[in-house]
Amino acid sequence: MPKVGIIAGSGFYEFEGVDTVDIRTVKTPFGEPSDAYRVCEYAGTEFVFLSRHGIPHHIPPHKINYRANMWGFREIGVERILSVNAVGGISSVLKPGDMVIPDQIIDMTHGRAATFYEEDEVVHVDFTDPYCPELRQAIFLSGEEARAELKRSGVYICVNGPRLESKAEIGYFSRIGADIVGMTVMPEACLARELELCYAVVAVVTNYAAGIAAKRLTTAEVVNVMKASTGRMRKLLADTLRRLPAKRTCGCSAALREARM
Ligand code: HPA
Repeated sequence: MPKVGIIAGSGFYEFEGVDTVDIRTVKTPFGEPSDAYRVCEYAGTEFVFLSRHGIPHHIPPHKINYRANMWGFREIGVERILSVNAVGGISSVLKPGDMVIPDQIIDMTHGRAATFYEEDEVVHVDFTDPYCPELRQAIFLSGEEARAELKRSGVYICVNGPRLESKAEIGYFSRIGADIVGMTVMPEACLARELELCYAVVAVVTNYAAGIAAKRLTTAEVVNVMKASTGRMRKLLADTLRRLPAKRTCGCSAALREARM
């Protein structure tokens, strides 16, 4: 079974042009994942693909079973997860179509099941750097090779949704240091860490966040910009998969070592 998973959201539902060689359905103690896990092959590399909102897109961000999705990946042997996310651009240097590899997170979600350690054990995983450095490095190198312009840092602020933000909220998020806004990286990133999985995000700016440009936001805009980036994204992800060392040398696989009370 491939050890790398890709989870993708709005506008990126399947890897067109990629062979699906197996389909795995997984039952978890936390319920059902968003969809079946597809084992895919592309240019000699294998990975496991999951559509975060299901196929067709029917699960809103606040209803995604994040725990089941992450648990399912681990259950079938995945150790590293590349996450593809549509985001709104807050920072003035960002425009639709840009790709950002964020290095930080601010969590504004509420009411989501955000830990595997609810009852029997008290665990506080370190989240100083929320994303895997080894995965991020592999993405950077692949971006360089493809001459794809990637923003190598950025603060992703995660809102609960499903509504979009007000102008005042985006103004506030900007003042507290957020560069991009989306609805799905939390609690996904911290659940991955609790399972000692590597996790990194490739975000595509699909729109200017509310009030940044003088027009209303539409979901069509989000999906269309994401679809227009599919070719670039597919190449970037495939190159990243090929580049990853077989053995993990980051700290993600030992995330629980000093986390238990
Ligand atoms: N806000 C929140 N989530 C998003 C946006 C946005 O502007 N664009 C894509 N996902």
